[in-house]
Amino acid sequence: MEPNTDVILRMSDIDIEFPGVHALDSVDFTLRRNEIHSIMGENGAGKSTLIKVLTGVYKKDRGSITLDGVEIHPQSPLEARYYGVNSVYQEINLCDNLSVAENIFIGRQKTRFGKIDWKSIRSGAEEALRKLNITVDVTRLLGSYSVAVKQMIAIARAVDMNSKVLILDEPTSSLDRPEVEQLFSTIRKLRDEGLSVIFISHFLDQIYELCDRVTVLRNGRLIGEYVLHDLPRLELISKMVGKDFSSLKNQNKSVRDKERNEVFIEAKHLGKKHVVEPFDLSIHKGETLGFAGLLGSGRTEVANLLFGIEEADNGELLLQSHRKTFKKPRDAINSLIAFCPEDRKKNGLIHDLSVRENIILAMQAKQGIFKYLPLKKQTEIAAEYIKKLGIVTPGADIPVKNLSGGNQQKVILARWLVTNPSLLILDEPTRGIDVAAKAEIMNLAMRLCDEGMSLVFISSEIEEVIRCSDRVAVMRDRKKIAEIAGTDLEEEKIMKIIAADSGSAA
Ligand SMILES: Nc1ncnc2c1ncn2[C@@H]1O[C@H](COP(=O)(O)OP(=O)(O)OP(=O)(O)O)[C@@H](O)[C@H]1O
Ligand SMILES: [Mg+2]
Repeated sequence: MEPNTDVILRMSDIDIEFPGVHALDSVDFTLRRNEIHSIMGENGAGKSTLIKVLTGVYKKDRGSITLDGVEIHPQSPLEARYYGVNSVYQEINLCDNLSVAENIFIGRQKTRFGKIDWKSIRSGAEEALRKLNITVDVTRLLGSYSVAVKQMIAIARAVDMNSKVLILDEPTSSLDRPEVEQLFSTIRKLRDEGLSVIFISHFLDQIYELCDRVTVLRNGRLIGEYVLHDLPRLELISKMVGKDFSSLKNQNKSVRDKERNEVFIEAKHLGKKHVVEPFDLSIHKGETLGFAGLLGSGRTEVANLLFGIEEADNGELLLQSHRKTFKKPRDAINSLIAFCPEDRKKNGLIHDLSVRENIILAMQAKQGIFKYLPLKKQTEIAAEYIKKLGIVTPGADIPVKNLSGGNQQKVILARWLVTNPSLLILDEPTRGIDVAAKAEIMNLAMRLCDEGMSLVFISSEIEEVIRCSDRVAVMRDRKKIAEIAGTDLEEEKIMKIIAADSGSAA
């Protein structure tokens, strides 16, 4: 055992059971001073649950937590914060209708002579953000900023409180590369100043880039603790999934000439003022068209036009050569288009409905409310997709909010696959999804393409876009700036196009 002085936090024999799930089975976890420690495991392995036990969100059934040599019993996140344990969750819990400054100081408003001291709240917020090199107007409403900025603000809020332990549960899933770099340099700085950091992410590259040690969980059990430097990637993955996963390395795309297939959808100079500049695009049957570009480059806006979330004010859309106008998503759904959106909290799941209800939602909508799907049929469909996508849940009737983040993402995907679409648009479909599930989901999508479905695939991970796509459209500043296929499909080439000065790109 390590000398005790090195250890800031020790969780021993932690056990917690939910109805039908033994979420943590006698798990030990040790965090040292000045280290960045990752917790890894597949979706539903128990990572967030372990954090929630530590921060007093969940009450453990058994086990002990020792911080700085003293046993603690946090009963709420507030209490945990009092001890110096601060967290930023997978789902950001900040208030859109408060200002940035208020969000940073919620629950610990500064008062001066009994009055809220707005001036010091404002300067305190500015100071907290400056430490992270973030420049935003702290008097503006939080809701006016992007998810990425909100995330940084949540981190600033956490770091600003007298932290001993900072917990980041998937903080980077909606950040683009420069923002990730900014965040990482801040985390390293904080570590070097003496903070201990728990960092949870499904991005292997980020884990290896940032973390010192990793604790691996599988099915609620501790598999082990390792120094990352000594642990090859494939070994880490096989510890996470419990089998040898060399097959993960190659995802084989079938190499048929999809260009020869009929065109399913074609955009001619389609665009909308202030949303996305007019673009041309055609997608053949059975083809996967990828979208690459940074966050905010217009990837999602193109998808919104193809799905009728935004109505185009320029150009035309042809569906199997027939002119179509999509004024609302229903019009697109009726044309057999499905859209699996990026932000599962905002656009996707209805948290109090069951897994089954969430899965059949789109199909039910398509059929019309008067043609109610019989329960037996619903149950069959839900069971089929829970199996197909490997959704970890004790049953189809569990409220979807009880599922782990990654499994919630799979439920949205199932919802759209059930409608049997001719064109499926996936916007960041694998965000928050573990490596093994990622491969399975993409394999499933590829199989559907082989059966004739067309796919639009949007992801921040360029390498993933390349691996899965037949052609890639590159976006920048709300404009389609290039289209790449065949041997030109290389990460470096695409990055160069994205990074090139406006005007000089192909
Ligand atoms: N409040 C709850 N009620 C019932 N079951 C829950 C609850 N919270 C978590 N679970 C279950 O506990 C298990 C572990 O979930 P947890 O959220 O810790 O997974 P995770 O490792 O964070 O996964 P992900 O990578 O998808 O975020 C899952 O099976 C989940 O369904
Ligand atoms: Mg989680």
